[in-house]
Amino acid sequence: MKIHPLLPALFLALATSFSVRADEPPAPAAAAKPATLEDEMKAMNRAFRQLKKQIGDAAQNVSSLALVAKMQTAAGAALEFSPSMASEMPEKDRPAFIADYKVKLQAFIATLARLETALKAGDNAAATQLVTDLNGLQKADHKEFRKPMN
Ligand code: HEM
Repeated sequence: MKIHPLLPALFLALATSFSVRADEPPAPAAAAKPATLEDEMKAMNRAFRQLKKQIGDAAQNVSSLALVAKMQTAAGAALEFSPSMASEMPEKDRPAFIADYKVKLQAFIATLARLETALKAGDNAAATQLVTDLNGLQKADHKEFRKPMN
């Protein structure tokens, strides 16, 4: 059998290109897009909307606990961000505003922990009240920290 004179060269070129590819780090596109405060809030919103529908139903407490866990994760992650409003205010007011945001978020997280306890105890009346409390905190905190919508 006659081998084409260029075939070994082609083979070598292909083999080299594969070995180089194998050494490359994973493509940047594979890396997750960094989350934002808005992303965390959207995650909280999805879980809270479902939770409000089912909080009174003790038969759904396992699912409700999973929703509370999702909210805890999102609220905990939100602590790592600052409200976008902070960048628009005078620099001298910024640290106090961000500190206040974190204090309010911690109070919200503490209320989520009480909700978890109530659900684990099967106390759906207390859990329903705590969801109402969380709703109130959401409204007050958005008024304080979220840019008014145009
Ligand atoms: C049940 C609880 C909550 C729900 C369901 C909720 C939901 C949302 C939603 C849907 C948005 C709009 C996101 C977007 O722009 O796409 C938002 C924005 C925002 N929320 Fe909440 N939120 C909750 C609690 C809180 C709490 C406790 C705080 C602060 C202590 C907070 C602070 C903010 C801020 C600052 C923004 C504007 C985002 C930015 O500045 O980048 N939220 N939230």
